[in-house]
Amino acid sequence: MNETHHPSPESPLTLVLGGTGKTGRRIVDRLRARDHAVRVGSRSAVPPFDWEDPQTWPAALDGVSAVYVAYVPDVALPSAAETVRAFAAAAVAAGVERIVLLSGRGEEGAVRAEAVVRDAGVDWTILRASWFAQNFSEGYLLEPVLLGEVALPVGDMVEPFVDADDIADVAVAALTEPGHAGALYELTGPRLLTFADAVAAIGQAIGRDITFVSVSTDEYRAAMVEQQVPDEYVQLLTYLFTEVLDGRNACLADGVRRALGREPRDFAEFARDAASAGVWARYDTEAVR
Ligand SMILES: NC(=O)c1ccc[n+]([C@@H]2O[C@H](COP(=O)([O-])OP(=O)(O)OC[C@H]3O[C@@H](n4cnc5c(N)ncnc54)[C@H](OP(=O)(O)O)[C@@H]3O)[C@@H](O)[C@H]2O)c1
Repeated sequence: MNETHHPSPESPLTLVLGGTGKTGRRIVDRLRARDHAVRVGSRSAVPPFDWEDPQTWPAALDGVSAVYVAYVPDVALPSAAETVRAFAAAAVAAGVERIVLLSGRGEEGAVRAEAVVRDAGVDWTILRASWFAQNFSEGYLLEPVLLGEVALPVGDMVEPFVDADDIADVAVAALTEPGHAGALYELTGPRLLTFADAVAAIGQAIGRDITFVSVSTDEYRAAMVEQQVPDEYVQLLTYLFTEVLDGRNACLADGVRRALGREPRDFAEFARDAASAGVWARYDTEAVR
């Protein structure tokens, strides 16, 4: 299947990296709904795009004027900035005029990747996002929710979970409209929640108690090792939960309002919509057996 949607040869083409993931999929859907020409950038797309294989980059960039960059596995990794630097150079050489980078709030590695994009010599917009609400419905916290218990090495630390739909709305605005070049948007939800609050909101939305358990970092690491989570991923999650969740991000930001002129979606709204869509429906049938 060719993943490039091209309404007319004259319309500018946008490459959405991570185009099948939590943010990218939503951006692709929105661009297609507006009849924008869009190409999915991922290993499973045609042509394929692989961060680990620069030889795949030129075909993915061919004819592209704007790129959404969601670096995988995580923009906070020390290696992210150098890879994003090489990609940005390839993009500029291919004629790309605008780059929108998905970044992470409070992460040193992410700030280095942001600097690379800012210095690339094209229009740029940075989306510096807080933790996604969709981690609970489409990410690594889905399975624990399905199993009825979320155990994490966090206590009462609050986090302004942001909805990936808001990130996608901001990204589409930055990719397609004037007025966002040179902007750094800190994207958060409208409310600070503990992880226990977030889990309780999901439980309320699906009409069941989901238990939240605060564990030590060692217990968390040991549980992941027992579940045969790859070592690199164990280290990344431990870094995110221990270093990034130290209170530095425990405040709201106005990026969604600045970019879109409206308030961000609340976590309870996310939980209600995800419950209605049935993402946690497996809880009843499979997980509790
Ligand atoms: N989750 C959060 O709370 C949070 C918060 C702030 C920032 N972020 C940032 O969000 C970014 C991830 O974005 P996301 O959550 O929207 O994506 P995601 O849901 O993790 O999806 C991953 C996407 O990347 C593709 N992919 C995986 N490995 C790849 C590779 N080697 N080369 C090219 N593409 C690859 C996948 O498709 P294929 O499998 O087909 O390749 C998929 O489209 C990270 O940079 C992270 O730092 C996340």
